[in-house]
Amino acid sequence: MSQPKSTILVTGGAGYIGSHAVLALTKAGYEVIVLDNLSYGHQELVEEVLKVKLIVGDIEDRALLDRLFATYNITAVMHFAAYIAVGESVSHPDKYYRNNVTGTLTLLEAMVAAAIDKLVFSSSCALYGIPKSIPLVEDHPQDPISPYAKTKWMVEQILDDFDRAYGLHSVSFRYFNAAGADPSGLLGEDHIPETHLIPLVLFAALGKLNSVSIFGTDYDTIDGTCIRDYIHVVDLAQAHVLGLEYLLNGGNSTAFNLGNGSGFSVRELIKTAEEVTGKEIKIVEGDRRSGDPPVLVGSSDKAKRVLGWYPQYPSLRDILAHAWQWHQQRHGQTHLPHLQVSR
Ligand code: UFG
Repeated sequence: MSQPKSTILVTGGAGYIGSHAVLALTKAGYEVIVLDNLSYGHQELVEEVLKVKLIVGDIEDRALLDRLFATYNITAVMHFAAYIAVGESVSHPDKYYRNNVTGTLTLLEAMVAAAIDKLVFSSSCALYGIPKSIPLVEDHPQDPISPYAKTKWMVEQILDDFDRAYGLHSVSFRYFNAAGADPSGLLGEDHIPETHLIPLVLFAALGKLNSVSIFGTDYDTIDGTCIRDYIHVVDLAQAHVLGLEYLLNGGNSTAFNLGNGSGFSVRELIKTAEEVTGKEIKIVEGDRRSGDPPVLVGSSDKAKRVLGWYPQYPSLRDILAHAWQWHQQRHGQTHLPHLQVSR
């Protein structure tokens, strides 16, 4: 058997995107250790599906991080652990600044102390704010409008300063709308509460919700609803492996957009979901959700050019079909007593 490559610490590896990144890393031959406080993550996905070591703990726990870095020979860190609900970040900004910013700072300080100088960071296109031009490119002005988006912007600033001061190299990936599930059906999206459009649409297709609300039908778009760039989570995960290898090969700190470059309206997405699932999905037209830009579509040419990244599943149908497979097997038979929906 060939020797494993290096050992990578994945924070938030029990979460949606983190767990898919763990799978991509193990397939690429890396040894992986997951650090997750399980506040939102799923223990069984790490231990039973991914079968990698799980350390239950917090990125704010400096003593734990020091022990972890002293015990394992970690080459680089992939950092997913963060709160992600934009609406909640407006009502509880302290929670977001503490975890997403202070927690990351603690992680970075521990990395510097342990001389670990490579980080792949889970950022967001939300840091651009309301787009001035579409498609969004990496040097578009940054003007984050929610506390969540500001935390991603702040961490990217901190990463620039840590590179200059301590030589900590990082790649930040600014995701557009992460969606889909591993085609195996073993990993997928399971947020509690759920706020994202695709899972809610599929819950409606499963009969777990009576209808889906459309947040705003009076936008200046083709059909009045918001347009988003949906990117398959497996393609995101693959980009993280390429970003890691870019750093391992001596690449300089930088940021990349990750999207498909094509936008779909909320109505188009629901229609495609009806075709993929063969179910009728009842819609309720509601008010706009605050902080939603009308259109978010990104150019990922830089990731293609620099990392050689190409999405394997660019079609919205594939994205929905994989998510549908996951939700059917995860929730099809169950009662979903925990189903909580929020804006
Ligand atoms: N939407 C509805 N009804 C719903 C849920 C969502 O109409 O019940 C709409 C939203 O208004 C938006 C679109 O569907 O126009 C997509 O909404 P999501 O909540 O699925 O995703 P967001 O675009 O708001 O946010 C996601 C991530 C953020 C990230 C952002 C970047 O959750 O972390 O993508 O685009 F910052």
